[in-house]
Amino acid sequence: MSVAPHAGNGKVTVPDILSRKSQPGSQASKKITCLTAYDYPTARLLDEAGVEILLVGDSLAMVVLGYENTLPVTMEEMLHHTRAVRRGTHRALVVADMPYGSFHTSPDESVRNAVRFVKEAGAEAVKVEGGERRLELIARLTEAEIPVMAHIGLTPQSLHAFGGFKVQGKTVEAAEKLIRDARAVEAAGAFSVVLESIPRELAAEITGGLRIPTIGIGAGPECDGQVLVIHDILGLTAGHTPKFARRYANLSETIAQAARDFCSDVREGRFPSDAESFHLSTEARDLLRTRPLRRSPVM
Ligand code: KIV
Repeated sequence: MSVAPHAGNGKVTVPDILSRKSQPGSQASKKITCLTAYDYPTARLLDEAGVEILLVGDSLAMVVLGYENTLPVTMEEMLHHTRAVRRGTHRALVVADMPYGSFHTSPDESVRNAVRFVKEAGAEAVKVEGGERRLELIARLTEAEIPVMAHIGLTPQSLHAFGGFKVQGKTVEAAEKLIRDARAVEAAGAFSVVLESIPRELAAEITGGLRIPTIGIGAGPECDGQVLVIHDILGLTAGHTPKFARRYANLSETIAQAARDFCSDVREGRFPSDAESFHLSTEARDLLRTRPLRRSPVM
């Protein structure tokens, strides 16, 4: 495992993220960058590119495993992908998302599951969806030395309760509830909070009222940092993507074109070329010529 959590060597730590909270009136604080990662090569590239937080999001259920929503992904699957991301990451903070069902039965089991992410997969923090009702859990995890990134607003694990993927906090009551959620997770000890799909003005209000950084996704530019799903920014997501998911590349087309080119090269005899083949030495070739392979007689 390649974690080197010593101050001064460029490793991003939980205290570093906390210290990046923008101060009112100050323009100086640099925004926090976070992207999801689910495998070794992507983690390596994002880490080398300077992304500060790699989130092994349960969105992997949809963008990697092809499920319709995030609910089916299991602890074992999340651990498997977190290990791969850990192996590819040297500098970024690795945060593992606690999947649906892993923190909903009992506090002891929730802590046990979170400990597995740290002990078995090398995560440095876990993310937990839910606000006020996670107060006790966040406090328990923090007490167990597990830093917690909270997640409020449109929490995809609440899909059925919300009746779909809908922008949250649009009425005064709903906005007040989200403000209470944000205060609760901060009071419980979370080191940061993801604000997903909420009005920009509400996200700005929450950001201004908290001591911990907010990391927005569909929550406007006033948050202390931004997170997006890597498949969305690379143009790898099939079907609808939300309006905040800015696409920086079109890898779907790049991959499809590479596959089409490979197929036509193979079919037309252009692949492999002689330079892409291995060769016998001249001596071995001559010897083989004088002693051709004998076929076994057909009985
Ligand atoms: O699972 C995920 O990818 C997330 C981010 C979108 C915040 O929760």
